[in-house]
Amino acid sequence: MLLHGTSRIDEKGQLEIGGCNAVELAAEFGTPLFVYDEAQIRSKCRAFVTAFQESGLAFQVAYASKAFCTMAMCKLIEEEGLSLDVVSGGELYTALEAGFPAERIHFHGNNKSIEEMEMALDTGIGCFVADNFYELGLLNQLGKERGKQVNVLLRITPGVEAHTHEYISTGQQDSKFGFDMMSGQALEAIQFALNAEALHLLGTHCHIGSQIFETNGFVLTVERVISFLAEAKAKLGFEPAVLNVGGGFGIYYVEGDTPRTPGEYVKAIATTVRRECEEHDLALPELWIEPGRSIVGDAGTTLYRIGSTKEIPGMRKYVAVDGGMTDNLRPALYQAKYEAALANRMLDEAEETVSIAGKCCESGDMLIWDIQLPKVRAGDILAVPSTGAYGYAMANNYNRIARPAVVFVRDGHAELVVEREQLSDLVRLDRLPKRINL
Ligand code: LLP
Repeated sequence: MLLHGTSRIDEKGQLEIGGCNAVELAAEFGTPLFVYDEAQIRSKCRAFVTAFQESGLAFQVAYASKAFCTMAMCKLIEEEGLSLDVVSGGELYTALEAGFPAERIHFHGNNKSIEEMEMALDTGIGCFVADNFYELGLLNQLGKERGKQVNVLLRITPGVEAHTHEYISTGQQDSKFGFDMMSGQALEAIQFALNAEALHLLGTHCHIGSQIFETNGFVLTVERVISFLAEAKAKLGFEPAVLNVGGGFGIYYVEGDTPRTPGEYVKAIATTVRRECEEHDLALPELWIEPGRSIVGDAGTTLYRIGSTKEIPGMRKYVAVDGGMTDNLRPALYQAKYEAALANRMLDEAEETVSIAGKCCESGDMLIWDIQLPKVRAGDILAVPSTGAYGYAMANNYNRIARPAVVFVRDGHAELVVEREQLSDLVRLDRLPKRINL
C-alpha cells in the first residue's frame, strides 16, 4: 500500500497519519472513520497555486467542493486562498455557514432551482456557471428584478471526453451539461448573454472528465475552446476575461495509476493557453481551474474494524468490515479499485488473498476484491487510503446505517470535523402518520 502525505509506519509497526496513531484514532472516534491529513490537503492547494504563480498568468483555483464538502473543509480552502465551486444550495449553504467569502464562490449545475439562484444572488456569489438557455433567461430576469449585474461563465462542451488513459474526441458532445460548441449553440449562448441587460459575461467554462492522468486531453480542449473563442471574437466582438478549464486531475488509487503532479497539469494548460491566444490574437484571459479529487483524494483514509469472515474452501475468503457502500459507493458504482493494509500490523507479511466485503444487505457491497493481507483477525483495523474524494461526499444511509465521523489530523492532533451520525439522527425526519399511530 502506498503511503501518502504524512502517513508513515510508526515504531509500533502501526499506521500513523498526521502524527496520530491510526489504531488510537479508531479507538477514540470509532469506526468507520474518515481521517484527513490536513497537511496533505494544504500541500495540494499550494502546489496548484505555486504552479500558477510560476506561469505568470492571472488565475483562480476553485476547489470543487462536491469531492468533499464540510464546513471545516470550506474553512481550510478559504485559509489557503482558493475559490470554491458549488453545485447546489446545500453546498452553497455549507460554505456560507463556514463564513466562506461569497464573492469567491462559483455556482454550477445543469438545473439550478429558482430558490438556489435567488439565494446565490442575494448572498453575492462571484459568478454563475450557466448551463443552458433556461438558466440564462432566469438569471437575466432575477438580475433585472434586483437591479444587479449577474456575472456568468457559459459552460460549453468542447467535444473532448477524457477518460483515465485515453480521450475520445467526440463523445462529450452528447452530454446533459452545457452548450454544445460544434452545433453553434455555444455561439448563440454568447450572443444571448451579450444581449441580456442584467448579464455580465465573463467567459467560458468546460470540464472534460475526472481522474484524468494525461495532459493531452486538457491541451486538446484548450486548443478547441480558444479557436472557438477566436470565432466568437470575429463574429460577435466578444473577448473573454476568464477561461475556466474545469477539474479532473487524477490521483493514485492502485498500482499502475500514474497521475501527473498539479504543477505538470497547470504547466501544460497554461503553456497551451499562452500559445493559442497568441496564435489567435486573443488577449490573455484569467485562467481558472476546479480541482476536487486532486486536492482531497489522497489526503483521506478510511479506517474500518474487521468483523466476520467467511471462507468458501478452494474459492474465496470474504472479510467483512463495519462499513462499505454506505461510506464508499465508488467500488459499487464505478468498479473503483483501492489498496488497503492492516493499520495495527503494518509490518506483518502478507499471507492470504481475501476480498473485503461491506456490511450492507447487498451482494454488490464489496470494497476490494482479491487483496493480499496478513492473516486477518476480528478486531483488526483496515486502512483504505485515497478515500478523501467522493467518499464521505457520496455517503448514504442505505440499510439505515449511520454515516461515519470525520477527523482532521495534523502534527499529532486529531480534531473531529463531522460527528458520527447517531441512531436518533436516522429517525429525526421521520413522522408517524396519525392514522397508523393507534
Ligand atoms: N468541475 C466540474 C464542472 C465537475 O463536474 C467536476 C466533477 C469537477 C470540477 C471536479 O472534478 P475532479 O477534479 O474532482 O475530478 N463521483 C465521481 C466523480 C464525479 C465528478 C463529477 N464532476 C467519482 O467518485 O469518481
